[in-house]
Amino acid sequence: AADHELLLSYIRDVPDWPEPGVMFKDITPLLRQPDVFAKTVDLLAAAADGPIDAVVGIEARGFILGAPVANRLGAGFVPVRKEGKLPSDTSSASYELEYGQATIEVHRDAFTDGERVLIVDDVLATGGTVRATVDLVRAAGAEVAAVSILMELGFLHGRKKLLDVDVHVLLSL
Ligand code: PRP
Repeated sequence: AADHELLLSYIRDVPDWPEPGVMFKDITPLLRQPDVFAKTVDLLAAAADGPIDAVVGIEARGFILGAPVANRLGAGFVPVRKEGKLPSDTSSASYELEYGQATIEVHRDAFTDGERVLIVDDVLATGGTVRATVDLVRAAGAEVAAVSILMELGFLHGRKKLLDVDVHVLLSL
């Protein structure tokens, strides 16, 4: 409970960003405070139950959190990126946004069969991004050991898309 309050106190609410009516959850104050950033990494890494071969971080804030989690766990790091950013052969997954579609990609040779993967991101909103990431990892032959998320926007019910995955969330907003 103390950790929960500490983390929450370093997340800034920015009204009407990126568009009117949206309350953006800004994690830059949390990243700026060394001990709070380190605590967040520890807590995100604790979602791993057993050895992890690779941490998957989702662009862009999932890179900032996922890379130190990978280091902490003695795992490698795999970026899942928005379309057109990865240089080698990719597989891709598309999903619905409020308006339109999004596509994310991962390198085809990122995993070997049966590897255990931890997916890390900052926010679980509608769940589309994590759902697509889980599907990409599984299609590549790896196992999703768990998903570890800093905060969940519970009113968007993203977890309903993730009933087949072990989802760990540090803060429910
Ligand atoms: C945000 C967030 C998650 C995703 C969650 O990323 O960091 O990755 O949206 O939304 P969902 O659960 O509704 O799919 P964003 O698309 O803003 O990308 P960015 O981190 O590159 O700005």
